[in-house]
Amino acid sequence: MSEPTHQTASAPAKCRICESEVSEFLDLGRQPLSDAFLKPADIDNEFFYRLAVGVCGTCTMVQLVEEVPREKMFHEDYPYHSSGSSVMTEHFASTAREFLESELKSADPFVVELGCNDGIMLKTVSDAGVRHLGVEPSGGVAEVARSRGIRVRNDFFEESTATAIRSADGPADVIYAANTLCHIPYMDSILRGVDALLGPDGVFVFEDPYLGDIVEKTSFDQIYDEHYFFFTARSVSEMASRFGLELVDVRRLPVHGGEVRYTLARAGARSATPAVAALVAEENARSLSALPTLESFASNVARIRTDLNALLRRLRAEGRSVAAYGATAKSATVTNYCGIGPDLVDYVCDTTPAKQDRLSPGAHIPVVPAEEFSRAYPDYALLFAWNHAEEIMRKEQGFKESGGKWIFYVPTVHVV
Ligand code: SAM
Ligand code: TMP
Repeated sequence: MSEPTHQTASAPAKCRICESEVSEFLDLGRQPLSDAFLKPADIDNEFFYRLAVGVCGTCTMVQLVEEVPREKMFHEDYPYHSSGSSVMTEHFASTAREFLESELKSADPFVVELGCNDGIMLKTVSDAGVRHLGVEPSGGVAEVARSRGIRVRNDFFEESTATAIRSADGPADVIYAANTLCHIPYMDSILRGVDALLGPDGVFVFEDPYLGDIVEKTSFDQIYDEHYFFFTARSVSEMASRFGLELVDVRRLPVHGGEVRYTLARAGARSATPAVAALVAEENARSLSALPTLESFASNVARIRTDLNALLRRLRAEGRSVAAYGATAKSATVTNYCGIGPDLVDYVCDTTPAKQDRLSPGAHIPVVPAEEFSRAYPDYALLFAWNHAEEIMRKEQGFKESGGKWIFYVPTVHVV
């Protein structure tokens, strides 16, 4: 059994799925860890890497060309708590209910979730009394999940973890991962682990930001250290078949700016729904993974940088106050790529206590509690958490009513 390997900065970019050559199409420059919110004393020790994306000419997988060691990102103090959004809380409760009503109907079903975080999905499973296990390497959020009655293994999922779980708990009916699989470069170890743990008719279900939405919306801020892969139905289908698995269903999801939920089963165990062939055909018709399409996406990204930087400079010159809303991991890419620091944005507000009273990664914009926003509204608010726009704009109606304006940069820079 082999442990995960790491691709280093000096190694040539080889596809993490099929080892063919990866062609780089977008360089977002020197970037910090997207979730490393700093105490002022830590500024001098900040970690940086080169954030660049490429596409594999053989299996079409879009991926980062440089890899950040996993322990630097996922640890005791990982600050992202999934339950910070009420829309996502409902999304995962309904996902759990769907599993309970379909795949988890046998006498003693078992579900394993990779990256269960604070238990946002498994809470519903646990409340229903169904056997489950969350595998979560980040100790702080794993502890929150445990405090909610969820069974958690504080570990990285990989082949050795999977075989240990299989020995202790038996085969899984469902293995689920939301916004986690795309975070994991060592896919060979993961899929061998899935093979070891999944029951004969089990399903491996995962949902992640969809390359089709990223290209369509120019949502380049989905690209950061933690998002290693950018999946399509075609690349997932090719990846699955290399590991004795088969893509048997896809479903587009509106959350997080556009995702796809992929369902994999053992090859030949289930028949694929028509949605799989339909999405692959749509991707082929769009030439989604072709280099010219991705190079044109890269040009659109550069235009956003120019436009956003120009807008913020103009507002500053006019003496307007500008704040930002949502200290998202995504915003590290935006601020560091577009050159946005405390000279252009006064603060970022966020509901997450672990991010507050810190400085944003790389750009060093102060992060303050969300209540600061309504205490004295700025003239403009840059919505970094644009994927939660509806929820936030509903909650902050007073901002618009007082004459405030939201700045969006996806799909183009615009003010509403
Ligand atoms: N599933 C939650 C959601 O959708 O909101 C959490 C997503 S969070 C962006 C990614 C999670 O994956 C983190 O909690 C991280 O600790 C976890 N993670 C990273 N690598 C992992 C691995 N190899 N196995 C299991 N979880 C992992
Ligand atoms: P995400 O886009 O990765 O889910 O991160 C969203 C960030 O925005 C997270 O740090 C929590 C924060 N947030 C708020 O501050 N207020 C809100 O109403 C919501 C939904 C999120």
